[in-house]
Amino acid sequence: MRFMQWLHRWVSLILVVQVVLWLISGFFFALTGHQGMSGHQYMVPKKTLTELRKVAPKFGFEEIKQRFPNAHAVELVSVAGVGQYQVTLPDDVIYIDANTGSHWNTDETLATQLALRSYSGPGRVESVERVTGSEEVIGWNAPGFRVDMADDLNTRIYVDIASAQVVEHRNTPWTIADWAFRLHFMDYSGGRSFNHLLIWSAGLLALWFSLSGLILLGRNLINGDFNPRRKKTWLEQFQQQGHPVASSCGGGGTCGLCKVTLKGDNLPKPTDSENALLNRDELNAGVRLSCQHKVSTAYNVELVDKAVSDTRLTLVSKRQLTPSIVELTFTSSGNLTYQAGQFMQFRIPHIDEVLIRHYSMATCPDLNKLVFNVRQMPSPQEGVPPGVGSNYLCHLEVGANVDATGPFGDFQLTEQNNNTQVFIGGGAGIAPLRSLIQAEQAKQQPRHCVFFYGARNEDELCYRDEFEAYDGAAYTPVLSETTKADGWSGNTGFVHEAALAWLANEDLNAVDVYVCGPPPMLKATLKALTDIGINRSRIRFDDFGI
Ligand code: FES
Repeated sequence: MRFMQWLHRWVSLILVVQVVLWLISGFFFALTGHQGMSGHQYMVPKKTLTELRKVAPKFGFEEIKQRFPNAHAVELVSVAGVGQYQVTLPDDVIYIDANTGSHWNTDETLATQLALRSYSGPGRVESVERVTGSEEVIGWNAPGFRVDMADDLNTRIYVDIASAQVVEHRNTPWTIADWAFRLHFMDYSGGRSFNHLLIWSAGLLALWFSLSGLILLGRNLINGDFNPRRKKTWLEQFQQQGHPVASSCGGGGTCGLCKVTLKGDNLPKPTDSENALLNRDELNAGVRLSCQHKVSTAYNVELVDKAVSDTRLTLVSKRQLTPSIVELTFTSSGNLTYQAGQFMQFRIPHIDEVLIRHYSMATCPDLNKLVFNVRQMPSPQEGVPPGVGSNYLCHLEVGANVDATGPFGDFQLTEQNNNTQVFIGGGAGIAPLRSLIQAEQAKQQPRHCVFFYGARNEDELCYRDEFEAYDGAAYTPVLSETTKADGWSGNTGFVHEAALAWLANEDLNAVDVYVCGPPPMLKATLKALTDIGINRSRIRFDDFGI
């Protein structure tokens, strides 16, 4: 069902994009009209019949017929006052100069003259270029000339060498219309046909979208989701009662944050979402997602994060750690106790709503201050807004307040053992890892720590001096976008590859691995760790469920 939901969502996006394209291109056609899109604004009709009277061929019809006994038809026309026989053969049409009897050949001067005769606009000839066919003229691949006119529509006139015919007029409105046609027909080959693979695929996608929508709707009906008197989920119940529960998917069963522990004999079976987002140990211990189960009296429910509270944070300092990561230090309105590796749920005011964003504490537990690393998300491109949460926080002035709830999360150090603690991170994923490493190093007998941190370049290696100074923690920075000119002599490439190379010489049963970083890095690392055979119970990771 999760896969169906996922596919349904992405298919809907594809279809919405295409419907928007259809609407825009359809409006364009309606507003522009046939003449506006034709490219023929400055094209005059041919006047060959009047000119035919002036033609006096040196070669007569009979002579041409004898040369081409298979011809279906022979027609004499005038090309700028010169006779031309158009001979239609069973599979071709050939053009003969009626004065010389040889195949017709249009030179540049004549092509320009013919182009001008077909043109009624205000421009003059700007350039003449010899071409072989043109992408602008569908089905014409023969040698010819392109005559560019200097006018307001940027007119191009194509003249065929073999026939001396003006093949087409094209201009800027036609180019725009051509792209509108391509988008409307989804036909980027220029064939103007609805009968091709892309359309078939779109049809199948639309069919899939409808069917999966019906199945999902049926499931919602069976679950009673549209019934105002239906039973609430535990998540809804907790939220209504004011218990803070972490969530970033609003109850969609995709973030995995709304964990609770169920206690009793008749625990509900794990749903697909739970099987995907919770590990076997958690499921066996009764951990479930509160958004996945309706309120019931058959068992008891405990919030996993019991020490959670609402708090008002006051910004006391701000510093730019790297070109993209800002360190924000807050004090809390109450004494907030947290475990290393946990995170806070920030409430970010945005227009007339409140957005929820999660940030991990970046130091070991400290009653007096809370430190966060915020990666400032720029606009991916012009017209697209930058990251709302990160920009809000990064632009707070010292003394400003922000509301938050927490602490949440179970990305914490393993119980005391003798294993080497391996940390693998990238980008702003350094925050919980730094917190965990600091907490480990603060112990009386810290376990050996190994930290692999991936960044694009040397400037992005935040807290580098701190990590290099640890005696009990081996720090390995790995750069992904460095060049020889940078003079970097350390590891390069992907951070998980450096970690794997190191793990290859280790006892995989004697390591605990912690992973946090951007989604692609996290995904690749988790897969690689599983592939080399590290037991899932030895791997902890934090992706905020995103
Ligand atoms: S709120 Fe339950 S999984 Fe996201």
